[in-house]
Amino acid sequence: MVHRPRIHLIATGGTIAGTAPDPTDTRNYTAGTLTAEELIASIPPLKDLAEISVEQLYNLDSKDMTPDHWLGLARATQAALDRQDVDGVVITHGTDTMEESAWFLHLTVRSEKPVVMTGAMRPANHPQADGPGNLQAAVRLATEPRRTGVWMTMNGATMTARAATKSHTSGLNAFAHHADCQDFTTLRGRFSGVVPNSWPRVDILMAYAGAPTDLIDACVCHGARGLILALAGHGSIPANWRPALQRARAVGLTILRGSRCAGPVWRGQNAEPEFLATGDLPPAKARVLLMLSVAAGLDATDLASILASLNQEKP
Ligand code: SIN
Repeated sequence: MVHRPRIHLIATGGTIAGTAPDPTDTRNYTAGTLTAEELIASIPPLKDLAEISVEQLYNLDSKDMTPDHWLGLARATQAALDRQDVDGVVITHGTDTMEESAWFLHLTVRSEKPVVMTGAMRPANHPQADGPGNLQAAVRLATEPRRTGVWMTMNGATMTARAATKSHTSGLNAFAHHADCQDFTTLRGRFSGVVPNSWPRVDILMAYAGAPTDLIDACVCHGARGLILALAGHGSIPANWRPALQRARAVGLTILRGSRCAGPVWRGQNAEPEFLATGDLPPAKARVLLMLSVAAGLDATDLASILASLNQEKP
């Protein structure tokens, strides 16, 4: 007998499970109020697509996700993927930090089965809610046996965990590719099994006209082990930041040059060769990679080759 695809749905909250007192108001609502069971029950066509088991892992607004939540999500996802009676995993998640969780899962989960994340820009009780369509698309994608790796689907677009970013605050098509790349294999599961006693602190510092250097010293004072610099343009370091950055490097911080703009930052042969660069990872995703690298005890040489493998450049 041919069985229907078996999908395990892990619910973590977000607008897809949110409700508004005024259903047409997309500005005032509470994310993560419906349970996964209620969400599934409100979308009858789902049961025609797959046999769905449900796990309510969290019910959060994703701005409140922490690295410990990422770890819990990775464990739940791996446990589901390892089950013989599960063909794929769907994760509902707030859109605000979905890309960070997706990238963490890409780096930590090992499986050939699909993992598809989705969310919504409008709360569940909105008359034109986008969640039901997004969730059906996610379940459909997760039933495709060849769709290995971690994916995100929103508003009819399907993106890799590596390339997707939220690029608009409120539009239905809020997600875009930050990288011109469909790579879904490099570094997949590279950090599986990394379970730190406590997460290394890695901060993101944005450059802006007149940005003070004491923010760099403050990160060092508060125990940061790494810094991601969201710099202007192609990662240009303000001249007045250099002494503080050198002090930070001298006490062992790993520092990556990135940009506050869309587009990649490459490690320069001429410009700033002593600093690693984020390549095509936006600052929040570069931070996830650096946290895992520090937690795994990797040194700057290891990290350089990891970044190079991701960006197919010389370490
Ligand atoms: C959230 O990220 O949890 C709230 C916003 C959203 O899901 O779109």
